[in-house]
Amino acid sequence: MCGIVGAVAQRNVVPILLEGLRRLEYRGYDSAGLVIINGGLQRVRSIGRVASLTADCAAQQVHGHIGIAHTRWATHGAPTESNAHPHVSGGLAVVHNGIIENHEELRSRLKGAGFSFASETDTEVIAHLIELYYRQSKDLLDATRKAAAELEGAYAIGVVSEDSPNRLVCARKGSPLLIGLGIEENFIASDVSALLPVTQRVMYLEEGDVADIGLLSVNVFDAAGNKVDRSVHISELSADMAELGNYRHFMQKEIHEQPRALTDTLLIAVAQDHIQPEWFGFDAAEILGKVDAVTFLACGTSFHAAKVATYWLEEIAGIPAHAEVASEYRYRTSVPNPNALIVTISQSGETADTLAALNHAKSLGQDKTLTICNVPESALTRASRLKFLTRAGPEIGVASTKAFTTQLAGLFLLTLVLAKLRGRLTPAQEVEHLTALRSLPNKLQQVLALEPEVEAWSHRFANKNHALFLGRGVHYPIALEGALKLKEISYIHAEAYPAGELKHGPLALVDEDMPVITIAPNDQLIGKLKSNLQEVRARGGELYVIADGDVGIEESEFVHVIKLPGGHNGALSPILHTVPLQMLSYHAALQKGTDVDKPRNLAKSVTVE
Ligand code: F6R
Repeated sequence: MCGIVGAVAQRNVVPILLEGLRRLEYRGYDSAGLVIINGGLQRVRSIGRVASLTADCAAQQVHGHIGIAHTRWATHGAPTESNAHPHVSGGLAVVHNGIIENHEELRSRLKGAGFSFASETDTEVIAHLIELYYRQSKDLLDATRKAAAELEGAYAIGVVSEDSPNRLVCARKGSPLLIGLGIEENFIASDVSALLPVTQRVMYLEEGDVADIGLLSVNVFDAAGNKVDRSVHISELSADMAELGNYRHFMQKEIHEQPRALTDTLLIAVAQDHIQPEWFGFDAAEILGKVDAVTFLACGTSFHAAKVATYWLEEIAGIPAHAEVASEYRYRTSVPNPNALIVTISQSGETADTLAALNHAKSLGQDKTLTICNVPESALTRASRLKFLTRAGPEIGVASTKAFTTQLAGLFLLTLVLAKLRGRLTPAQEVEHLTALRSLPNKLQQVLALEPEVEAWSHRFANKNHALFLGRGVHYPIALEGALKLKEISYIHAEAYPAGELKHGPLALVDEDMPVITIAPNDQLIGKLKSNLQEVRARGGELYVIADGDVGIEESEFVHVIKLPGGHNGALSPILHTVPLQMLSYHAALQKGTDVDKPRNLAKSVTVE
């Protein structure tokens, strides 16, 4: 969703701001803008891509040593130039991520005080509110602090004023914001990837922080106004990690990065001979040893990872587990269990629904919290007692791929740890699982080699409007994930069902125009699955089966089979069966000519409810 970049330097900051915005494009946006202070405020805004903002800045020869920039994903007001950030009031300008819930009340108060509004956004009230206080104190930090104290909702804001041409003020609550530290230059951004070309030294702001940033100084104040130290982190990410390289799309690159991402994620475990709770934090043995149930809270693809884990946990660790859609959880009356482990799963670590669900779980007295997350120092990792970092590296494509399979890897480790703590693993099983994990990246590489076969299938999908995905048991959530991938990037309507449910309704949809994609591992349900497939064939449905090598389903005119190398892969089978589905949706989207990395209407980090 929205992105923020700001800079104060001795050099021209316009290229830094534009490159930062370009690096935030993956989050999803529909307009972009910047303000530079060079004598007065110079504002350039543009609907559409950062490239057109860049062209406009070049045409207008915008340059200066301090500025703020923004990509906007419309919430309040259409994606028009007048609604694009920065918003200005008097001589100051503001960029904002998040949603101000009391904006209507503030708007009428500010109108009463004589301010007129040029946009429909909630952000503009922030600009005028700061200006109101600035008129009184003539101090940008003081005015921002006072205005921030009146904002309800979530915000990360950056503020500059033409009266203070060496001063960048920012504040955050509910939306992420960090400060990048350079040499005689400093930066702000909503996401570290925006700053990687200029610095890897970052300071994450905490809830309620306000910061005053100059060329040589960074002063941070907490919500109570006390000057505080926030630790400096060296980001492990490098500028080129977020580059496309030889790939056509980030999604394709990220699908192919999975063997590496899994190797890195599993490193902590496979280098050991024994399963160890400390993979989840130094006090994990104590916390995990006391839990008697697991509740997962997550959204979208991360929710599907949670669903897979519920099967693993009940079967291998013998612990009751259930997965909740995070956006629903806090609005229903649930029965809290203080001994339940609350596990949030998130690629970004900043999904508003998941964060709110975690806070709700805690408010119900459930304080044994763990997050499985791809972003260190994200809101979710900071709000959880235990954490497991997936080491997928930055995921730029909106459709989650490598984040999902690395989440599954982390969740499988959690399963093993809980199984061991509960006395459910023999030493031989422990060795067996670790050995299987060691060979997972290689097996995944072999599955990736099936891409030409998957691509050949995709040609048949380009003219389809609907598709049905089937799976059984632990592969049902993989069918859900396959359907989500197909719909989000190719816009083909897709549904997923446990294959046994077909005859209870969805079979009515099956005809020759409905491709039925089926996951067919050679597990204990294969016999039943084959009967379900006969039900489809008997209604004229065309089958696309992703099968284990030894499953014994043969090709025929209306039955297409892609065989994974070797036989059944035991508990790790869902991870391997995911990859052909990712490749299928990628190639189907290519056939349809959609914007693979930035599908319409979607954003990468969903930071609003
Ligand atoms: C789908 C997708 C989304 C995310 C969901 C949660 O491909 O990417 O469904 O999985 O928005 O996001 P995170 O994992 O960042 O919490």
